[in-house]
Amino acid sequence: MRTVRLSHASVFEGPVRIINRWSPLRGDTRPPLSFVSADIQLEAKACCALQACLQAVGLTKEIVPVSGWRSRAQQQQIWDESLAENGESYTRCYVAPPACSEHEAGLAIDLAKKAAHIDFICPAFSYDGACGLFRREAARFGFIERYQKDKEAVTGISAEPWHFRYVGLPHARLIEENGLCLEEYPGFLAANARRVSLADGNTARVFYVPCEREGVTLTLPETPFEISGDNQKGFIVTVWEGCL
Ligand code: DAL
Ligand code: ZN
Repeated sequence: MRTVRLSHASVFEGPVRIINRWSPLRGDTRPPLSFVSADIQLEAKACCALQACLQAVGLTKEIVPVSGWRSRAQQQQIWDESLAENGESYTRCYVAPPACSEHEAGLAIDLAKKAAHIDFICPAFSYDGACGLFRREAARFGFIERYQKDKEAVTGISAEPWHFRYVGLPHARLIEENGLCLEEYPGFLAANARRVSLADGNTARVFYVPCEREGVTLTLPETPFEISGDNQKGFIVTVWEGCL
């Protein structure tokens, strides 16, 4: 076994962070970015996962990325322009206030079906055809459909069938298979640790660890692990079992 010491500041970092109007980003730091297309960037791991998903389903020509990483200034501009053009209630439904958008962490991608005209705020991304195929495969590559109709009161955002959030594996599968939204995931894990079978035949154990101001110390087995803060009160810990 080994000991891992986590500081309270790490609660606000990691791919499984809940970012919403009640749980804003701390600071305004630029994540490590990679290019999805000439003018769209994503956090580096999310970018690789998106390319892998699009290539696996053979949809690189039919699905186009519309919006990925946004700076704080860009999110502010989108917010201000939407307020002026669409009014406050529409804007609150479809645009996160500056500092409250997961686009600013580079972990969100808006996608559209290729078309002559694409709406920037609400692009068309249906549940059938190429878009449906991407949607069905996305969790296998670490993406969740982030804003679903029946979770609007929890996420604070209206249904956005075009907005996918990278959380990585095995979280995307656990979230999707259990019908959760991201806000519900830490509580789901806190109620019970989960064991997930992986495509390579190994398993992963996923559990939640609350964190007090002084930080927290974990004792973990010698197998690979990943830890993400939830941007609120603790950590989501993933330990891969059976692979040394
Ligand atoms: N459209 C999503 C909510 C955003 O602006 O981050
Ligand atoms: Zn989006």
